[in-house]
Amino acid sequence: MVSLEKIVALCKRRGFIFQGSEIYGGLGGTWDYGPAGSQLKKNLKDLWWKEMVQLRDDVVGMDAAIMMNPRAWEASGHVEAFTDPLIECKICHQRFRADKPEEIEIHEKTHKGKKVEWTEPMKFNLLVKAYLGIIEGKQSEIYLRGEITNGVHVNFRNVVDSTRVKIPFGIAQIGKAFRNEITPGNFTFRSREFEQMEVQFYIKPIESEGEKWFNYWKKNRMDWYLSLGMKKDNLRFRDHANDERAHYAKMATDIETDIEYKAPWGWSEFMGIHHRGDWDLKRHSEYSKQNLSYRDQTTNETFIPWDIETSAGVDRSLLFLLIDSYTEEKDRLFLKLDPRLAPYKVAVFPLLGNKPELTKKAREIYEKLKINFMTAWDDRGNIGKRYASADEIGTPYCITVDFQSLEDNMVTVRDRDSAKQERIKIDEIEEFLDKKLNG
Ligand code: GAP
Repeated sequence: MVSLEKIVALCKRRGFIFQGSEIYGGLGGTWDYGPAGSQLKKNLKDLWWKEMVQLRDDVVGMDAAIMMNPRAWEASGHVEAFTDPLIECKICHQRFRADKPEEIEIHEKTHKGKKVEWTEPMKFNLLVKAYLGIIEGKQSEIYLRGEITNGVHVNFRNVVDSTRVKIPFGIAQIGKAFRNEITPGNFTFRSREFEQMEVQFYIKPIESEGEKWFNYWKKNRMDWYLSLGMKKDNLRFRDHANDERAHYAKMATDIETDIEYKAPWGWSEFMGIHHRGDWDLKRHSEYSKQNLSYRDQTTNETFIPWDIETSAGVDRSLLFLLIDSYTEEKDRLFLKLDPRLAPYKVAVFPLLGNKPELTKKAREIYEKLKINFMTAWDDRGNIGKRYASADEIGTPYCITVDFQSLEDNMVTVRDRDSAKQERIKIDEIEEFLDKKLNG
């Protein structure tokens, strides 16, 4: 498997991901997505949204505010229980997570044989605080959301009242979350600002329904990641042990399963399926004093629904898709990304950048293609370098206009994965791409 260093270097070289605030020496746990990275991220989120909202009759979307009334975070249990165990090295005062023995071991080695003593573990709350409004002090203290979930639960009533949803149904959301991680690391894997894609799927509070939908979403999510081209051998399910469940699950129905990826540093979670029971709606009902129960119109039963949540990290999914698509073959390096994910679908080049007749023709093709396809233009350097650049960004097709094109109105199309070239008519490029990219 490719090393993380190679992925980080590629991301910087080709404009996928840069260190956050790099010119100021960075800001720990933050990352900026560049031109290729932001497009890849958008494509991933768009595919997720299409699958979860557009193609399903039982899921609707929403986009809640990041800043919420702080009572919502008390209700959800985050103020009290969203903590990691923190320990401090008594030699250098660096802080670590007590539940990450590998990281502690690595740190102890940096003290070269000296006996390292640690403080007792203490609970460290991960919520990031901010101040809102013009009054200074406690009254203006709010939290940036630690998970995107609360914004959906607090709108349960609004969605039921404003749409035609009937249980079982889900509410999908994509957005940023913030955590004051003690040790951000492994590139974007553990960041302090990241994005999540979640569905809160509300069901009848019956054990058999819970089991059915939990298993349904496990399979559904695994199949989706496989359909995006993730390698089967690099994926596995892992059930949470009793002592590692999130506070909402511990207090609810006690099942959590992660989908893990075999990362360069070991098996690592990038999404979870959580049976949250009635924890959230019940607590928000109590704290807001609003009725968040659901009335089944056909049976006339009234109940607080259970929630089966699927929660995926956008950044972690993207990182693992990059690792899985990184392909070194002979003297070539390319990203074998599913064309639906690829930031650019096609690149157009004039064979030589300093021949106006070639540039004019190539430009005409580029201007036409970009209306329907994310298209890159490149007239720098030699053709070999342009192919290398397009390969490393994962562009499935490159089109070159040469002198022959001026005579026969045909161009060379090169396929990213095989590096094979064929001649096709200029008039047929769009049809060709449509067939190749959309099947
Ligand atoms: N709403 C449930 C929830 O937030 P979680 O397991 O804490 O559950 C869900 O987070 C996903 O969010 C994780 O599987 C991971 O992909 C992503 N995630 C969590 N913390 C992260 C971090 N510090 N950096 C990047 N992604 C993170």
